[in-house]
Amino acid sequence: MSKEKVQIFDTTLRDGEQVPGCKLNTDQKLIIARRLDELGVDVIEAGFPISSPGDFTSVVEIAKIVKNATVCGLTRAVKKDIEVAAEALKYAQKPRIHTGIGTSDSHITHKFKATREEIIERAVTAVSYAKTFVDDVEFYAEDAGRTDNEFLARVCEAVIEAGATVLNIPDTTGYCLPEEYGAKIKYLRDHVKGIENATLSCHCHNDLGLATANSIAGVINGARQIECTINGIGERAGNTSLEEVVMILRQHPDLNLDTNINSKLLYSTSRMVSESMGMPVQPNKAIVGANAFAHSSGIHQDGVIKNRETYEIIDPADVGVTESAIVLTARSGRAALAYRAKKVGYELTKLQLDEVYGEFLKFADMKKEILDEDIHEIMQVCKLSEIRTV
Ligand code: KIV
Ligand code: ZN
Repeated sequence: MSKEKVQIFDTTLRDGEQVPGCKLNTDQKLIIARRLDELGVDVIEAGFPISSPGDFTSVVEIAKIVKNATVCGLTRAVKKDIEVAAEALKYAQKPRIHTGIGTSDSHITHKFKATREEIIERAVTAVSYAKTFVDDVEFYAEDAGRTDNEFLARVCEAVIEAGATVLNIPDTTGYCLPEEYGAKIKYLRDHVKGIENATLSCHCHNDLGLATANSIAGVINGARQIECTINGIGERAGNTSLEEVVMILRQHPDLNLDTNINSKLLYSTSRMVSESMGMPVQPNKAIVGANAFAHSSGIHQDGVIKNRETYEIIDPADVGVTESAIVLTARSGRAALAYRAKKVGYELTKLQLDEVYGEFLKFADMKKEILDEDIHEIMQVCKLSEIRTV
């Protein structure tokens, strides 16, 4: 049975780039946009065109070079924003305007000092106006995570009627639990008239470390687009991480969902974004962290050497990592030492391994990690250098 597609909406260049220190110039953004297109994302949110002349130019230039993906520009529910976004997107082969407004009581009362009815009216006006420029209009209900479901459903119904093609349900503050977020998506599917004419989209922030879990709960409950960023960068604690949701769907065929992403480009794309933004990836980051395929304890190393799948659920090659790493530390056992020694040219007998292992532990207690050059030194101390074959 063929799997249903979940669209990947990448907002690295908008929600990701607005993080302090992550600012990119237009040339850097073009390199990343080209790579995102090659990676297979369905939508590239290229920026917020009215926010600055630089962002406007970046959206224009990205719209010119992207070949496959839809190119999207963010706006508030403000006429001028929409006009500027439409102008910035005029060269895009597949343009999308992403407009919206806050829908939670907190946003309505404090940010807009408005009523619920006025918010619906502004939402409809914005979507209808955006529709005069492009066919593809995505509406975001900012702070949908804390918006009561009944009102949210009314907003969604009204903007679908005005022509919205995609409904973005952001958990802007990263507040929701996965069950709650999933139930919200299900509620909208069950209660919004015309929902079959629109795609529900998950846009989750990571304030409680739940962005990925919430996005997956969203697609399990019927959303068919996930908004995410490379390495999970984004406001505060970040956005849903693209590489995580892609690999979760791939590793769980039972969900019967997949994306168009070429997963073999995930690792190199992660490094490209990290380097150009000057934003390091934490070593224990799922999928793309330096330790994601590194094994350091003796028990795990022994298991992986016998059969990689004992401790790895993903083949590193599937995400573009050349091989699993066996990291030698004082917690490593003989199997790992023999494995690494062989890699650098020493085939040890059982007796030799016993001797070398004693010396290895002395070295390892003095260092965080034993490197290839340390192995050569240990062999010298054990007077075994001459057995080296490579
Ligand atoms: O988190 C959010 O609500 C957003 C919207 C502007 C889409 O980024
Ligand atoms: Zn966001």
